[in-house]
Amino acid sequence: MAINRKVQTLDEFTIQQLRNFPNATGELSGLLRDIGLAAKRVNVEVNKAGLVDILGDAGTINVQGEAVKKLDVYANDQFAGVLQHGISCAGIASEELDEILVFDDEISNNSKYVCLFDPLDGSSNIDVNVAIGTIFSVLPRVTPKGTPVTAADFLQKGIKQIAAGYVIYGSSTILVYATRRGVNGFTLDPSIGEFTLSHPDIQCPPTGKIYSVNHGNYFQYQQAVQQYISACQQKNEATGGPYTQRYIGSMVSDIHRNLIKGGIFMYPSITNRPEGKLRLLYECNPFAFIVEIAGGKATDGNRRILEIQPKAIHEHTPFFVGSKNMMEELEGYLK
Ligand code: AHG
Repeated sequence: MAINRKVQTLDEFTIQQLRNFPNATGELSGLLRDIGLAAKRVNVEVNKAGLVDILGDAGTINVQGEAVKKLDVYANDQFAGVLQHGISCAGIASEELDEILVFDDEISNNSKYVCLFDPLDGSSNIDVNVAIGTIFSVLPRVTPKGTPVTAADFLQKGIKQIAAGYVIYGSSTILVYATRRGVNGFTLDPSIGEFTLSHPDIQCPPTGKIYSVNHGNYFQYQQAVQQYISACQQKNEATGGPYTQRYIGSMVSDIHRNLIKGGIFMYPSITNRPEGKLRLLYECNPFAFIVEIAGGKATDGNRRILEIQPKAIHEHTPFFVGSKNMMEELEGYLK
């Protein structure tokens, strides 16, 4: 009997993908399910952020007598907790943790993957109801199974990522993840509490009309970046300029929009931050992976992001990411 049901949940989708790999263990599907679960819990709390006067400020005791955590700490605890309780992740690195957290138990020591994440990116926007997000990266461990993971498992080039993704807590809540097979987006259906496939096979348009950069830093950018920004603002028959400037200050939302509509996002080095603001391992690598799989490009101005050998868990990098043709135009200025 042919069953005609269009809605596909995240779990159904990842399990269906497994059918293409008869030898797959299902660990990645399990990991993505765990991330989806943590995202749903974080989503519930993010939606309550405006109720802070009622529920209590971070650091205080709420009306139920519970200590109220900062949302980014809460988000970190949720992701760390589900990954530790799951069976697919041997350890994590997080923007909220100074050091890697090794899940040193018998099951975790035999898990294939480590996960790196920024639990709540753009958190300075929480107070003003702007969309914020979670970013994650999944790497295969390089140390032998059966032993606790070490920093070497985390300090790998982005090209080694097995999967990467992000969640936006916005007008709707969307989880997007990429593997080498493609990029797919799932919108949370609150009526059933499930992420359902809403953006299959996302492709980044090769060109677009949006450039996203913090103009307040303009005079701190290197000259070539300033020249590119000026070109974005001018009439340009070849590229269809002038472009539109859009900058939310929440990278997950800025890059999501540009991924869908076509555009370029830049966080260049600035005078007092030559290495840029954004973090290589859990902010730039995941987005570089997603956007490249979708057909775009990502660099630090000189090198492909995914080929940078990381030296430290929290290292920064300048970041340029977006539609292929716009990135190539930028590269012309940076040469
Ligand atoms: P934070 O989590 O501290 O709010 O930082 C957000 C990140 C990123 O999401 C965003 O694109 C960028 O910082 C914005 O930085 P500027 O305010 O310096 O432009």
